[in-house]
Amino acid sequence: MNLTNLNYAPVLVVGAGIMGAGIAQVAAQAGHPVWLHDTREGAAAQAKAQLAKTLQGLVDKGKLAADVAAAALARITPISAVAEAASAKVVVEAIVENLDVKRGLFRELEALVADDAILATNTSSISVTAIANGLRLPGRLVGMHFFNPVPLMKLVEVVSGLHTEPAVAEAIFALSQAWGKVPVHAKSTPGFIVNRIARPYYAETLALLLEQAATPAVLDACLRAAGFRMGPCELMDLIGHDTNFAVTNSVYGANFQDKRYSPSGVQRDLVDAGWLGRKSGRGFYTHPQTEAEKTLPAAAAQSAPGVVSVTGRCAWATRIAEAMAAHGARVTRNERNPEVSISFACSQGGEGRVVVTDGRSAAQRASELQQPNVAVFDWSVADMAPGAVMAYAVAGQATPAFAAQAAGVLAAAGWHPLRTADAPGLVVARSIAMLINEAADAVQQGVCTPEAADAAMKLGVNYPAGPFEWLQRVGTAPVVHLLDALDSHYRGERYRVSPWLRQRLYTTGAHPA
Ligand code: NAI
Repeated sequence: MNLTNLNYAPVLVVGAGIMGAGIAQVAAQAGHPVWLHDTREGAAAQAKAQLAKTLQGLVDKGKLAADVAAAALARITPISAVAEAASAKVVVEAIVENLDVKRGLFRELEALVADDAILATNTSSISVTAIANGLRLPGRLVGMHFFNPVPLMKLVEVVSGLHTEPAVAEAIFALSQAWGKVPVHAKSTPGFIVNRIARPYYAETLALLLEQAATPAVLDACLRAAGFRMGPCELMDLIGHDTNFAVTNSVYGANFQDKRYSPSGVQRDLVDAGWLGRKSGRGFYTHPQTEAEKTLPAAAAQSAPGVVSVTGRCAWATRIAEAMAAHGARVTRNERNPEVSISFACSQGGEGRVVVTDGRSAAQRASELQQPNVAVFDWSVADMAPGAVMAYAVAGQATPAFAAQAAGVLAAAGWHPLRTADAPGLVVARSIAMLINEAADAVQQGVCTPEAADAAMKLGVNYPAGPFEWLQRVGTAPVVHLLDALDSHYRGERYRVSPWLRQRLYTTGAHPA
């Protein structure tokens, strides 16, 4: 396809809802003349009027010059029939999420615009390949997936279906950059990049809730401590359980009921109850949240045993050893063992061990060590401030006195320990490992590059780091071992290790001894 430069080319935005209005704003602010159309009578004019207020707000705050705002607004023309925009060079569709309606619209549009005009769809879940099927020139249809709110969210997934011509995807990539966005290329597969890789963030928490491993408040606090702006429960409450459940179902169905994407009965019950989250006043939490719901169990009193042995080579182990010493403990270090753990004499006799999770439950580790007093604690993937929340679990065969001691030791190490049931992989470790696993599969299947996955998760859903950045930080072996342990505990398809990750164990020389 012979594409002309799209700078300042006329743009038609179809659908003047939340997304369409935002797309029109961004295009107009980048200097394009924009036609805005909606089948709902008056919707396009209404969207423009709303935009006038938004732009005025930016002017009032000193973020935009008055003449620039006025010029941007003047570039937007609401139209009642798409025929008025026949000379558009780019069409961005943001109408109802329905394959037949979108196909019908694009058939109408391709009869109208010139053959070198690009047709872009903002669909969030429909196959770009399927939307293009049946068009006279399907190669010029591409996904241009913005995130809500469009003017603020930097990410655009440029989605190529089987028909999409590379030059078309490149032109939309460049156009997105010209609009101040950060585009990433993606292959049209269920959920594209963000909505696919993000699934485990919700799914692992829902799985833990199903097992009654912890409360929503505890799970949210643990993931916030790992750097996420919102915990999964509060985030699902914000998104709306109906929407989140629908996306999960759609990804699950589109992957032929692969158990890895299985929706959760916990969320279905919320939807059935009409507890959709903030919009209905109740979800996991009541909204506004009560003080009782926000309050976490108090941290245990800090107490370090007289003599401790700390294993592990990383900075984390050093920090633990220093904290224990500061509490008056006589500390010995064992750096030959890379696993971070704290061992000490139990108050009631015998040895106690508090060790970072490797995906085995505390009970399994205690059984294998033939030592009942074992506790496991969660991964720390962020620089955690002193007093940050840390999940831990105690083996069922441990004594109550050891459980209390383990909490005191973790508090002395600088955390606010929160006890969960003995679920393998605890909270942060299993969530992060599964996010990495999903991203690894996406890369192996050619959906995106590792760099695109990192950028997409940071910019599309504000993750504190990208999955491959976490992988770099944690290392391949701990991730693979954790997933293998979960796989052997739960015995199903859900925790199967991505072949890409398993290969990486060998190629990076991180093969376990
Ligand atoms: P919305 O419901 O706010 O707006 C859709 C608009 O399209 C409505 O004003 C409706 O009257 C109009 N419309 C429906 N059929 C039409 C047709 N045949 N021709 C012209 N106009 C028509 O929906 P929203 O949220 O803006 O979503 C639009 C598209 O963007 C969907 O495909 C959605 O999946 C996608 N999307 C939505 C995101 C979100 O967070 N809301 C994020 C990314 C993509």
